[in-house]
Amino acid sequence: MLPALSALIETRDVSKSFGNSQVLNAVDFSLEAGQSVAVVGENGAGKSTFAKIITGVLSPDAGELIFENEPVSFGSPRDAIKVGVALIPQELAYVPQLTVAENLLVNRLPSTFGFTSPSHLFKEAERLSKEFELEVPVRRPMSELSLADRQIVEILKALSRDSRLIVLDEPTASLTEAESNHLYEILGRLGERGLGIVAISHRMDEVYKFFGRADVFRNGERVFSGSPDQTPRAELIRHMLGREKEELEDIETAPRGASVLRVEAWRSEGIPELRDVSFEVAEGEVVSLFGVRGCGADTVADGLAGRGRRIEGGLEVSGKAEGIFRNPRAARRAKVGFVPAERKRDGLVLGQSIEANVSFLVIDSLSVAGFVRGRARRRLAEDAIRDFDIRARNVSQAVGTLSGGNQQKVLLASRLAPDPTVLVLHEPTRGGDIGARIEIHRLLRKLAAAGKALLVITTDVEEAVAIADRLLIMRDGRLVDEMAAGERSQARALRSAVGGGA
Ligand SMILES: Nc1ncnc2c1ncn2[C@@H]1O[C@H](COP(=O)(O)OP(=O)(O)OP(=O)(O)O)[C@@H](O)[C@H]1O
Ligand SMILES: [Mg+2]
Repeated sequence: MLPALSALIETRDVSKSFGNSQVLNAVDFSLEAGQSVAVVGENGAGKSTFAKIITGVLSPDAGELIFENEPVSFGSPRDAIKVGVALIPQELAYVPQLTVAENLLVNRLPSTFGFTSPSHLFKEAERLSKEFELEVPVRRPMSELSLADRQIVEILKALSRDSRLIVLDEPTASLTEAESNHLYEILGRLGERGLGIVAISHRMDEVYKFFGRADVFRNGERVFSGSPDQTPRAELIRHMLGREKEELEDIETAPRGASVLRVEAWRSEGIPELRDVSFEVAEGEVVSLFGVRGCGADTVADGLAGRGRRIEGGLEVSGKAEGIFRNPRAARRAKVGFVPAERKRDGLVLGQSIEANVSFLVIDSLSVAGFVRGRARRRLAEDAIRDFDIRARNVSQAVGTLSGGNQQKVLLASRLAPDPTVLVLHEPTRGGDIGARIEIHRLLRKLAAAGKALLVITTDVEEAVAIADRLLIMRDGRLVDEMAAGERSQARALRSAVGGGA
């Protein structure tokens, strides 16, 4: 251990409230140069708020921020960047039309470079890429890069501005395992060069694999800090939840009802091609469709959402032949509800209230002669808050101010409002912590017990196995394996999904 004097950043008694709710309570934190710490905790624990405070996005109500032994007060992210602190947020801000080089150097244009030639710009970007040993395609537009590569560009940008501390808010939530590994390799290398790293993560595997320290936030307090090597997972999870938590639950498979969703011989062009994908989901059944990113499950999801382009094949809902849905409205008409993966982009209107979000698919049925029945609408939202245990002040709270897990519950409630027969969920717990995850899984089991047919499309093997009455595995655009509840195994699911053989 280095002496405390060498702390790169420290916080003392940092507190923050929004309205009446105290989100951070007297947080002490310290990080040395070259140290990497994973910040973990349930949804709503205050992790993102803490990340924003140490990077100048938010100001604390009370407490001190000390950077390299100097008290600092950041009025904006720009102030933080000046002393060497950068935030890589979950939703990256970049200009999609501009090239990687332009995005890297955007804040220095044109002052540093004047109106220099593009080749000058590319050369400078390439120099940075070499200096920090981060390969990026400097000439390509940002919009053509994968999310993983865009993150690496952001990191390079931070490094090029002499960052000493990089704070990442759930950097791997939307990355494949290979991409995550790559990112952590890079961060590991940067750590060796003396960079401090704070990363929020919900994935225990990576916390244990890549971090020297894990700090647990719970209810706005930093309740634990320790080395993952010396902390059993069960203990870490106990700190997160403040109570013992059972692991995966056994599933009581109910006798299967009639088949209500029938996907028949779906084919499509594209990457990958769908090849003869057929399956059924019965009333009261939860079927997981699992595969690694790019396996084609996303295409199936799009097809069931009414966003599928050029899918051919048959589709039957509740015994009635439907054409492949050509738009989301067609899916809703057939009573197929869809919970999208990109809740912030496709699912929710963050600036609007819980009430508005929960009711927007059923607003017609809540209206009489063009007037929305306010009371009915409010009741719908109040029921949702109660049934889904949504932690919110009231139905008027803007959805964007809820924690991720609670946003997910609002999304689920809104899709259930029209009372669908079949519910298709795409990555239902992505970015959710273990507590919220178990809660949502329980909720899904309850919906199945009440007779709904559920299809969970996920790239998360733990989730796929945890929740399924039946597990379908997809690889390269076709179904390659199927397991009944009794024979579910993560190892077999992964093997089938990556084609590793038996
Ligand atoms: N701008 C805001 N206005 C009001 N409340 C807010 C605001 N930002 C966050 N909150 C509340 O503060 C609490 C902590 O939120 P925060 O985003 O820090 O949680 P988190 O630990 O990052 O959760 P998650 O894992 O879901 O991302 C939540 O209850 C959230 O609703
Ligand atoms: Mg967060």
